[in-house]
Amino acid sequence: MRLKDRVVIITGSAQGIGKVYAQRCAREGARVVLTDILDTQPAAEELRKSGAEVLALRTDVAKEQNTNAMAAQTIARFGRIDVLVNNAAIFATLPLQDFWNIPVTEWDRVMEVNVKGNFLCVKAVLPQMRKQGGGKIINIASGVAFKGVPYMLHYVSSKGAVVSLTRAMARELGPFNIAVNAIAPGYTMSEGVLARPEQVNQMRRPIVESRCFKRDEVPEDLTGTLVYLASADSDFVTGQILAVDGGSVMH
Ligand SMILES: NC(=O)c1ccc[n+]([C@@H]2O[C@H](COP(=O)([O-])OP(=O)(O)OC[C@H]3O[C@@H](n4cnc5c(N)ncnc54)[C@H](O)[C@@H]3O)[C@@H](O)[C@H]2O)c1
Repeated sequence: MRLKDRVVIITGSAQGIGKVYAQRCAREGARVVLTDILDTQPAAEELRKSGAEVLALRTDVAKEQNTNAMAAQTIARFGRIDVLVNNAAIFATLPLQDFWNIPVTEWDRVMEVNVKGNFLCVKAVLPQMRKQGGGKIINIASGVAFKGVPYMLHYVSSKGAVVSLTRAMARELGPFNIAVNAIAPGYTMSEGVLARPEQVNQMRRPIVESRCFKRDEVPEDLTGTLVYLASADSDFVTGQILAVDGGSVMH
């Protein structure tokens, strides 16, 4: 059990890859905080049945009051915060479109959730991590930031920002013994992605062809790297973006 008793907050974990991260962290002995703009109770129930200690919250990561409440409720329940996984994002529901047709309101919301949400969640957990003398922040970026993938300019730009804020935060938080790293997944067959078979059919082949390992990526491909970054095994690693995509991006 590599995360025994660590308190791990995972945003955007009602479903999809976030839920799979939560399941793996629980199997590694972590106490897990599930939080999403959607209801996290069903996912939390599943975890409790397997014996995990779980807190289920509803949080809009783009609202500071919500993110502060997320940190406060975690401390009230578990007394500490060891790991924050910034997984929440607007992604699977986005239509592919020419960037000049993206409505400004949609652009703003993607930036608000994917970039500001990340900043607010870190801000919220920071006082507790500093008090404890350290912690781990794991941001979820994306391979699209390195590839310049077309037809989702707001999303691609937001993940580029996640790469940059990971590096800058690592420099500012190093003196407090807080590691800040990111995972850059490739195109992954998550629940949300699989709900749009037409898009999958269009995108899957060229992406698989671009990899060294020529197969689909599934959420379970990401969990080993997440556990590594959340555990003591990565204690001298910070400011890094680990591409977990079968060898498509090399940076
Ligand atoms: N699936 C992929 O191909 C892929 C590839 C690279 C990176 N990623 C990233 O991995 C993460 C998970 O991907 P997924 O495929 O499960 O995506 P998804 O869109 O299915 O899940 C995102 C989750 O975030 C939640 N969320 C959205 N807005 C929120 C808000 N304001 N506050 C709190 N929660 C909010 C959603 O409700 C959802 O549960 C995302 O950060 C995504 O950008 C995914």
